[in-house]
Amino acid sequence: MRNGEELPLEMHKVKIVQRIDLKPVEHRLQAIDEAGNNTFLLRNRDVFLDMLTDSGVNAMSNLQQSAMLTADDCYAGSESFYRLEAELKKVFNKKYFLPAHQGRACEHLISRVLVKPGSIVPMNYHFTTTKAHIRLQGGDILEIPIDEAYKIESDCLFKGNIDIDKLHEAFEQYGDRIPFVRLEAGTNLIGGQPISLQNIKDVKAVCKSHGVPLVLDTSLMQDNLYFMKTREESCKDMTILEICNEAAAHVDLIYFSARKFGCAKGGGMCMSDEKLFEALREIVPLFEGFLTYGGMSDKEMEAIAVGVRDVLDFDVISQGPQFIKYMVSELRKAGVPVVTPAGGLGCHLDAKQFLSHLGCEYFQSASLSSALYIVSGVRGMERGTMAEERNPDGSEHYSPVELLRLALPRRVFTMSQIKYAVDRITWLYENRHLVGGLKWKEEPRILRFFFGKLEPVDDWQRKLADRFLQDFPNGY
Ligand code: F0G
Repeated sequence: MRNGEELPLEMHKVKIVQRIDLKPVEHRLQAIDEAGNNTFLLRNRDVFLDMLTDSGVNAMSNLQQSAMLTADDCYAGSESFYRLEAELKKVFNKKYFLPAHQGRACEHLISRVLVKPGSIVPMNYHFTTTKAHIRLQGGDILEIPIDEAYKIESDCLFKGNIDIDKLHEAFEQYGDRIPFVRLEAGTNLIGGQPISLQNIKDVKAVCKSHGVPLVLDTSLMQDNLYFMKTREESCKDMTILEICNEAAAHVDLIYFSARKFGCAKGGGMCMSDEKLFEALREIVPLFEGFLTYGGMSDKEMEAIAVGVRDVLDFDVISQGPQFIKYMVSELRKAGVPVVTPAGGLGCHLDAKQFLSHLGCEYFQSASLSSALYIVSGVRGMERGTMAEERNPDGSEHYSPVELLRLALPRRVFTMSQIKYAVDRITWLYENRHLVGGLKWKEEPRILRFFFGKLEPVDDWQRKLADRFLQDFPNGY
């Protein structure tokens, strides 16, 4: 802009819209109470800006929509499958593709084939479903990101990188118990932070010396590709396709959630190793569906095929990170604690700092997510202790980071909606002393954040709403 301000420009125009409602604060107070202060349990009709996730809610392009009409609907041998397979071959250049209904289905199958009781899987950081599936097979995870990963405010450009020294140590300590190493590009739970192409190469070198495969979760790869291109010197002159091919060349098994990667709904695994392919192929029809659909509809496979091609378009993959950067910098100007540098996926508020008057036993991130919904109708996602599982001895496992994730599904929100969210978050920050704690009301045994319920420790939510009504008397 003329004043030097950086403004992300939408490189698309709106062709189809969905109406949304902004309900008044009294309504929101009741809705969050009924949802047990868990934003997963809110009904979408009660939500104004749905920043819960970018999963399955990215805007589809006109070309994706039209491709869906060309779907070759059949049980076996669909042309839609072969079109998707061909697109994936271009971006990852692997010999084989196996379909699955979504990302966690791949994690299930991969864990079944590779994880045994006692296995330890080193990784830059876990994703909830990844950890759950590895544990379900009797294994466990070992998180070894660089130290910078845990710093909320940082200028490290690749906070998602694995610490190579720690990877060497892991092999020394666990040896044969390591069936594979997993990299997530970029890391979901620590703020959508990317990994570098160099780190992939370094990790691969270690894996190779131990004869262990390297697995890459590319669910968030489109954002990661943007960061490799814009932040990594050696990638500056490479095309997105070249970067993607190069990253893939150093890994043995790629899997993804096409609810993110490809902006549709589905998932899959790509590999060149025949033995691994045969082992995984055996169980795809058992758990997912026949080998040419794996639980996906043919229409979705067509949409993913186009979406995967879009991942190679720099203008398309820039949109997410650029809007996130804008939101992060506006919040920082207002003094709100956010994860920096801005990553992919969404904007992450640091609930530990935001609500520093609460101890971690009060579920800071869940409290913040509940409070933000009450004062804005914005639905974020708790990414903290609720998303962890209890320690084997039954004690609570407090997450090292307590984040409130505000996902920006790609090409969905407008600038004024982002400004509204920033305004309400800033208001909440100025009134943060009114936000109190939460405690368990109903605690599930596994994946607690999906359907666990919490209740406030006192009547802080009523008081927060009353304060809100003083500034916004009409309740909006
Ligand atoms: N890996 C990563 C990095 C993810 O972000 C997700 C999903 C999965 C695997 C599992 O894929 O949902 O298709 O089964 N993340 C969603 C989220 C749920 O909201 O961040 P899935």
